[in-house]
Amino acid sequence: MADLAPQLRRSAHADFQADGVLAAARTLRRNPRQAAAEVVDDLPEDGLVATAVVAGPGFVNIELTDRALLAQLTRRLGDDRLGVGTPEAGVTTVIDYSQPNIAKEMHVGHLRSTVIGDALVRVLEHLGGTVVRRNHIGDWGTQFGMLIQYQVEHPEPVAVDTGTMGRLATLYRLARAQFDTDSAFADRARRRVVALQAGEPNTVAAWQDIVAESTRYFTDVYDRLGVRLTDADTVGESAYNAALPAVADELERRKVAVTSDGALCVFFDDLRGPDGEPTPLIVRKRDGGFGYAATDLAALRQRVVELHADRLLYVVDARQARHFRMVFDTARRAGWLPPTVPAVHVAFGTVLGPDGRPFKTRAGDTVRLVDLLTEAVDRARGVVGAKNPGLTGAALDERAWQVGIGAVKYADLATNRSRDYVYDPERMLALAGNTGVYLQYAHARVRSILARADGDITVDVTAPLEPAERALILDLDAFADTLVEVVAGHEPHRLCGYLYRLAQTFTTFYEHCPVLRAPGPRRGNRLALCRLTGDTLRTGLHLLGIPTPDHL
Ligand code: ARG
Repeated sequence: MADLAPQLRRSAHADFQADGVLAAARTLRRNPRQAAAEVVDDLPEDGLVATAVVAGPGFVNIELTDRALLAQLTRRLGDDRLGVGTPEAGVTTVIDYSQPNIAKEMHVGHLRSTVIGDALVRVLEHLGGTVVRRNHIGDWGTQFGMLIQYQVEHPEPVAVDTGTMGRLATLYRLARAQFDTDSAFADRARRRVVALQAGEPNTVAAWQDIVAESTRYFTDVYDRLGVRLTDADTVGESAYNAALPAVADELERRKVAVTSDGALCVFFDDLRGPDGEPTPLIVRKRDGGFGYAATDLAALRQRVVELHADRLLYVVDARQARHFRMVFDTARRAGWLPPTVPAVHVAFGTVLGPDGRPFKTRAGDTVRLVDLLTEAVDRARGVVGAKNPGLTGAALDERAWQVGIGAVKYADLATNRSRDYVYDPERMLALAGNTGVYLQYAHARVRSILARADGDITVDVTAPLEPAERALILDLDAFADTLVEVVAGHEPHRLCGYLYRLAQTFTTFYEHCPVLRAPGPRRGNRLALCRLTGDTLRTGLHLLGIPTPDHL
């Protein structure tokens, strides 16, 4: 099976296809078909392989015996890890995700980072890995001068239009408007930034209040999303302030950064602007201030040196690709990022509105994430309520939440992350198709079959198998390999695709093979297939952060 012989691939022409002979024959300068024929002749008669034939230029197509497949089913049934090993044991991954900005709304971009990051965390941990989460919130910058100054000058509570914006976002908008039109205010705001940087106690306290208020809000959104991010995981940009001068000094000492036009810069041979001029990474600005890049360098250094990361992941919008290239390159040159530690920008595309353009409200504002979640749960309430007229009150609310949040997350995770996708609340709640609801239903249906069967489930390895049963056993067997692929490419959509195919294979099986009415040993075998399918769907959906109610 796949875990015993990794050079085997599932194939449309056979249970497995082996392509290793082809490469080996090339190295040995042998005729590949002849070499393949010898391999086939030499296969041991151990009851595992039913037929092996040479195909194409030198592949070996392999069909396994029913007995071997049923033996594998028995093993999986007795293993609550469903055949999944712990290849990540001893590996520490530091993953940077979610990263909303203080005093600003969370929007669909944060949804992507949060949901993809959460799924990767779950899979890595399930494979035995150690994961350090870093919610690199934007909690520092000149905008705080303007916010604090506005608050000082307008101590009366700001009028909150909760329909569109929270208190801080309203404050932000008002402060920005005055900053842009009133140059005396802008000067006072700039002096406020200096006071903040100098640690003036009242200013720092005001900043801390703003950060705390936003963080409470973010935590609330994470709870609503069912995402495991806590205060302990939140290490914002400001946390690295103290390390910035040393980062700059070290880069300068090692000649990685040079002063250009008064700013401390890192240059790259292959990064140039449209004018042909090199585009530098600015470590320290001409006025002596540090920015986003310096903070990321300090964070990276800390993650490798102090947190002992073996792998660094950054789940961030694809538009920041160049930033991360420059940061990783700089860190390698500075010696902070050893060749053995991969640093990956897990980039994702843009969420688009129905018009195919970046998702905005009609007024051109970004769409609030909380509004999208509320809408999805409301729609889900309609879908679930129509199916279950008896379901009311808190039970209906709970189910609507499970289905609505599951739909939003699945729609995001199911597309290849590097692609843009259109946010379509109607389609993501469709009962048919590649949706979260479809999979939640598939899971609930298996559970209801199992609930109607009583007694122990036993496998009889001597019973014959239908093609649909064979297909299901082989699909179930691929779960562990799928999780390894998710980690290898940082691609949760591979797990979505796997679960969707599994649900379809199960449907075909269920149409062709009666379960509860099946005769003798076949009933036990089919119940075993149901149980393993249910457990695999549930585990897989949980690894995506999607709830699996027993009824829908
Ligand atoms: N807060 C940033 C933004 O909204 C994203 C931060 C990404 N993480 C990082 N380590 N730079 O654009």
